[in-house]
Amino acid sequence: MDALQDAARSKDAARSKDAARSKDAARSKDAARSKDAARRQARGWARVAKRLEMKSIALALSAPIAWSFLEPHRLVVRRFDVAMDDLPAPLDGLRVAQLSDLHCSAITSSSVVRRAVQTCNALHPDLVVLTGDYVSRRNSYSHLTLARQWARPLMQYAAAMADEVRHLRAPQGVFAVAGNHDYAEGSFDAIRDALEQAGIQTLVNQNVVTSSGLPLVGLDDLRAGHPDAGRAFSQVAADEPHLVLSHNPRVWPLVQERLCLLLAGHTHGGQVHLPGTNFRRKPSDMRHSALIEGWSASGRARLYISSGIGSVHFPMRFNCPPEIAVFTLRRPA
Ligand SMILES: [Fe+2]
Repeated sequence: MDALQDAARSKDAARSKDAARSKDAARSKDAARSKDAARRQARGWARVAKRLEMKSIALALSAPIAWSFLEPHRLVVRRFDVAMDDLPAPLDGLRVAQLSDLHCSAITSSSVVRRAVQTCNALHPDLVVLTGDYVSRRNSYSHLTLARQWARPLMQYAAAMADEVRHLRAPQGVFAVAGNHDYAEGSFDAIRDALEQAGIQTLVNQNVVTSSGLPLVGLDDLRAGHPDAGRAFSQVAADEPHLVLSHNPRVWPLVQERLCLLLAGHTHGGQVHLPGTNFRRKPSDMRHSALIEGWSASGRARLYISSGIGSVHFPMRFNCPPEIAVFTLRRPA
């Protein structure tokens, strides 16, 4: 009897153990399943986060890239009063508008130049000056664009440019100097002819006196031409207030002893200026120069570098819109 009871107890104990083992196994399986589910869920969230991150990066990059294609069409007008010692009374209040780097080309259409001309005329300046680069030489188009293939012969752009700038109006005249791109076909002569036929007087190492009595000096381009300060400044005294035009701002040391306002272009203000950085796209001869845009001063000489109107390499600008600068000459207070 006892033996039978012991056997029954052993069986019960074994059953209990089996049941406990089964429960443990089931719990382990449940725990493993939960862990797998949690891992799958975590991987899912990671994928979602990655996708969101990629989308955010794409969005963050695409907005400024899209904007940089629009900015070449956002023409701004910058106005400055320029006090000049010994300025004769008739010149007090004289308004000079500067348009630079028109770059009529496969990537800057003549409609951009037209708008600049219309805007300039609406400002009613007394005098208009153009500081070079009326067209773009073929090798200035980036390899990343098809513009080099599309580009028409340079003189077709010169003719289109001249058809627009002939509408510039200023009672004391429109004057121009050469830029490095204007020498793309070996000399400035053909573009000079197009400008002269459009009623614009070109100054290549020459000076004139405007109808109001302001001496105006034009230097040849430093990079592609032959600036000759001796000829350009002949009969213009260093201590009489005068205006100097040069495409390239690196002529600045030539005029720092003079009482003058030097107006230059060439740099496009960098054309692309990444905010919070020093990055600006610079012409190859300006890589180590601090003269990129805006004002510099030395003694009684002042330099202004325009950001220009057109674009080179890409039809893009960023944080550096095209500009017309208007200077009002003033006698010191
Ligand atoms: Fe230029």
